Amino acid sequence: MKTLPIGIFDSGLGGLTVVREVTRALPHERVAYLGDTARCPYGPRDLAEVRRFVLEIGSWLEARPVKLMVIACNTATAAGLALAQQAFGVPVIGVVEPGARAAVHATVNRNVGVIGTTGTIESGAYSRAVRALDAGVTVFSAATPRFVDVVEAGLRMGPGTLEAWLAESADVFIRPSFYEIARDYLDPLKRSGIDTLILGCTHFPLLETSIQQVLGPRVRLISSAEETAREVAETLERRGHLAPASGEPPAHAFATTGDVAEFARLGSRVLRARIADVARVGLDELAGLVSPERTALLGSAEAVGTP
Ligand code: DGL
Repeated sequence: MKTLPIGIFDSGLGGLTVVREVTRALPHERVAYLGDTARCPYGPRDLAEVRRFVLEIGSWLEARPVKLMVIACNTATAAGLALAQQAFGVPVIGVVEPGARAAVHATVNRNVGVIGTTGTIESGAYSRAVRALDAGVTVFSAATPRFVDVVEAGLRMGPGTLEAWLAESADVFIRPSFYEIARDYLDPLKRSGIDTLILGCTHFPLLETSIQQVLGPRVRLISSAEETAREVAETLERRGHLAPASGEPPAHAFATTGDVAEFARLGSRVLRARIADVARVGLDELAGLVSPERTALLGSAEAVGTP
């Protein structure tokens, strides 16, 4: 069990921001990652559809096998964490609760903002998670779906950091500019007096500097990646499943439902480490992995408290 990889998945590349933190916190662990780029974005989709994707990808990871799964996508966590925890025999960790916990620890005035995809915000998952930790915190939410488009477009725009690209070319390539979009989204949150903002989408840490610029230095930004990595480490440690130290760097495995060459190129930029090999996983293959018993769970997902 100790030497099995940690399974991590996302709708595409954003979850690699979580892989970055997990591998930093746990340098001896192997990661098996699946980015569902063929079906990205998840944000605008019906949550019931995303729940099915969670079962498909979880079943694929289970067959690797893996010793723990991380749903490194806020939309998929909001839609299907409870379902995945019921369906699979290994611990499943999402990114919403760790982000909510980090925000509750960080806020002083107990006004917390959260931005995410339409699916994540409309699910109310963050408001519920924050209130479960501290019922005195007021949560101000805003769906910011265009930030996902900006990240995706920015990554495809050539070398250099996304931040540099935004600073140099946002006015040229994006109409309205990133900063106009960001002000429209963020000014109402700023006016609500938040002192903490949860980046409730795994794509958003890539825009951190620009978002901070729009909000000003008094608002603390929270990305759930670090807190999620801590939870992964604690869970493995408690269960005695941490990988033993070895002299060799761990061999991670990456797969995508989309274009493998593009995933390797763009993913290397997000991960800030070279991704050499990427396997292709077909959507038919994924669909065929879900057993009838698990498909039946989809019907009862609402009844077990999944939003
Ligand atoms: N990475 C996804 C999330 O954290 C956002 C991208 C998408 O819409 O698929 O919600």
